[in-house]
Amino acid sequence: MTPNTPTSLSENPFTLGVASGDPLPDSVVLWTRLAPRPFEPGNGMPTEGAVDVQWELADDESFRRLLRTGTTPAPAADNHTVHLELTGLEPGRFYWYRFRTGPWISPTGRTRTAPAAGSDPAAVTFGLLSCQQYDEGYYTALAHLAREDLDAVFFVGDYIYENAINAQAGARNYTGTHQLPAFFDHWTWNLTDYRLRYALGKSDPDLQAAHAAHPWFVTWDDHEVENNYAGLISQNNDPVDVFRARRAAAYRAYWENMPLRADRRPTGPDMPLYRRFHYGRLAQFDILDTRQYRDDQAYGDGWKYPGPESEDPARTLTGAAQERWLIDGWQASTARWNVVPQQVAFSRRKNTTADRSPLSMDAWDGYPASRDRVLAGAAAARTENLVVLSGDVHVHYAMDIKEDFDDPDSRTLGVELVGTSVSSGFDGEERPDDWNLQLAANPHMKYYDGRRGYVVVRLDRTCLQADFRTLTGVLTPGAPVTTAARFVSEAGNPGLSPA
Ligand SMILES: [Fe+2]
Repeated sequence: MTPNTPTSLSENPFTLGVASGDPLPDSVVLWTRLAPRPFEPGNGMPTEGAVDVQWELADDESFRRLLRTGTTPAPAADNHTVHLELTGLEPGRFYWYRFRTGPWISPTGRTRTAPAAGSDPAAVTFGLLSCQQYDEGYYTALAHLAREDLDAVFFVGDYIYENAINAQAGARNYTGTHQLPAFFDHWTWNLTDYRLRYALGKSDPDLQAAHAAHPWFVTWDDHEVENNYAGLISQNNDPVDVFRARRAAAYRAYWENMPLRADRRPTGPDMPLYRRFHYGRLAQFDILDTRQYRDDQAYGDGWKYPGPESEDPARTLTGAAQERWLIDGWQASTARWNVVPQQVAFSRRKNTTADRSPLSMDAWDGYPASRDRVLAGAAAARTENLVVLSGDVHVHYAMDIKEDFDDPDSRTLGVELVGTSVSSGFDGEERPDDWNLQLAANPHMKYYDGRRGYVVVRLDRTCLQADFRTLTGVLTPGAPVTTAARFVSEAGNPGLSPA
């Protein structure tokens, strides 16, 4: 494989920004992608070989105090993405980085390593993000998140959506030369489709700013492949061979475009995404994948009355191996806070006040035996301070995880923070039509807000604090952000209350 001469790139290839992810105390992944023409198949890059990319790591934003430099390949086979795994770093500190090739220089990114193993950090603060449907609004939430003081960001799914996007980019209402090429106006099926869909999202300056400001821990939900798929079963029950090929293309483009390590690289339609991180002894993060290994949704999916099909004890949302890994990890945990960033709502959500109510068959409510096993595993491991983080539903919720959701006086086993969408669902509204009903039907639901935004979570040795950040809207750029609500939960005494 002969490297291309960098000077052969006659246009700026750094159109999609930089990113960092999966920080450890001594290591982090740095990412970029070379795409001089990001909206064309092939991105205006050679189809074979690799391009050498120089990288720089510095102690300061202006790169006066260079710490390290090197060269890393951007292989054509990986769509000219770079996944540089730096090692030998110092724990709990900021680093600045950038890339060069020929005369071209990338934007600057800042990252932050995790605290030293076994240390007792005073606090960790992170953002919770999900659901950024490009054609349903601007990524203003990400511009605000870029300015927050965070250790890291957790993105819990729906980084892209698979739907056709017209020249106006839907609700973004692009006009004139800003309009999108016709290529995007079809659903994503193959590798080129998915790769270009990531390019579209990553062309957004607010998304680039959010990646450049903080390291991200990412996991997917359904739309990175297809709405509400389950394992190898597609929403519309496509032939398994057809869906397997689609999933393989989608997973490959996902790995290419995320700041993930080489050990996460997919093999065909399989990609090992669930993984564990530690922030000293303060927090353990068990990032789940509730899509790849789940059983099909019961009763044909949607909101349905639970029954023998959904309540079958054999059903699983995580798959047996991931469930065992999660519970084994809790058994071994010495962390004060045990945080589980994952996709779909964990706590029960009824949509009527009747004793029996329809439930979402796509969420943990559709897999109650799976939820019961996980909670029993947490209890058996004497898991301290369980915090589940979720996305998917495009609203903010604060919920107590109850031993018995039918009995408000039963024990609270942990807390769940559901972060609203970045842009999916257009502007949304503070109190959607079912606002009163949901709060009445679910006494463990302490907060519900239907606007766009994100959550900032701060953990210290005594308290969790969740700031639910909301925007006035996403149909025009530049909306301000406010903290619509702040909830706290004491270490050792789980239960969310307004602060
Ligand atoms: Fe979504």
